[in-house]
Amino acid sequence: MVSLIKQLPFQRIYFSTMNPNNARALSSTAKAMVTKDWSAAQYLKFEDERTLPVRDLLSRVPLQAPKRVVDLGCGPGNSTEVLAARYPSAEIVGMDSSPDMIKKAELRLPNVSFSVDDLTTYSPQPSTDLFFSNAVLHWLKKDERIRVIKRLIETQSPGGTFAFQVPDNMMEPSHVLMREVAATGPWASTLSDSDRDDFQSPQEIYNHLKPISSEVNIFRTEYHHSLEDHQAIVEWVKGTGLRPYVDPLSPQDKKAFLREYLKSLENAYPKTVDGRVLLRYPRLFVVAVKK
Ligand SMILES: C[S@@+](CC[C@H](N)C(=O)[O-])C[C@H]1O[C@@H](n2cnc3c(N)ncnc32)[C@H](O)[C@@H]1O
Repeated sequence: MVSLIKQLPFQRIYFSTMNPNNARALSSTAKAMVTKDWSAAQYLKFEDERTLPVRDLLSRVPLQAPKRVVDLGCGPGNSTEVLAARYPSAEIVGMDSSPDMIKKAELRLPNVSFSVDDLTTYSPQPSTDLFFSNAVLHWLKKDERIRVIKRLIETQSPGGTFAFQVPDNMMEPSHVLMREVAATGPWASTLSDSDRDDFQSPQEIYNHLKPISSEVNIFRTEYHHSLEDHQAIVEWVKGTGLRPYVDPLSPQDKKAFLREYLKSLENAYPKTVDGRVLLRYPRLFVVAVKK
């Protein structure tokens, strides 16, 4: 399989229906690369699978009774709900740059305070005990991620915790193939800067965070999700990783792209004994406790 890892900066954020103050807060990079909003409905098609790493990450957070918890990039509120269940006495806050996601989160958890905000400019109340971010930071440009994490940790008191999880799937067939299809079809020039930045290595993360942390725990888990068929892989990534490739295309090109992509997945993922397919999905987890 040909590897097409292009390491171009990438961030796409929707803001046309955002309130003007929040829209102004978006970085200039984000404004320059606007695409469609996230779809909460598409994302939630695989809610159970997507919420597993939330539980796994939270199980490694050492805080017993935090007073204030912020879910950074809370999406439709699935991760926020798990936080609220573990810390019923805490003040829980959720933020996300997607108006559609925040709308869903507010309906789901009416007692939690949610805001449409961009992580690169987000300023939290001081002394937040736990910043929690599941499947979000990889959407920031590579050089922004560590800056955002450090800036937020600086607002915490000693013992405050920053916990995050990001997919580690850039070399999985699901993602290699979407880059290949993007680079070889008639849409290649339109999609030439659609690739996501690779994430920092565990060693890089550790080296950045250890000087300000009493401990930095890093672990990696490889999930194997049994999905109904190859189309289900398409549906899964349509809610996340495929967005930068199909959002810029015309309806006709989008259809052709998805057809090509599905065909390539059928060759890469053999059917299992029960006629389903196994989607391997590695994820990287980090829990840093402030010094
Ligand atoms: C894959 S979803 C994760 C949702 C939820 N945290 C979960 O555990 O399932 C990624 C979320 O990150 C949000 N996001 C991406 N870039 C962001 C940014 N710069 N600031 C705030 N949220 C962002 C998206 O809007 C989306 O809701």
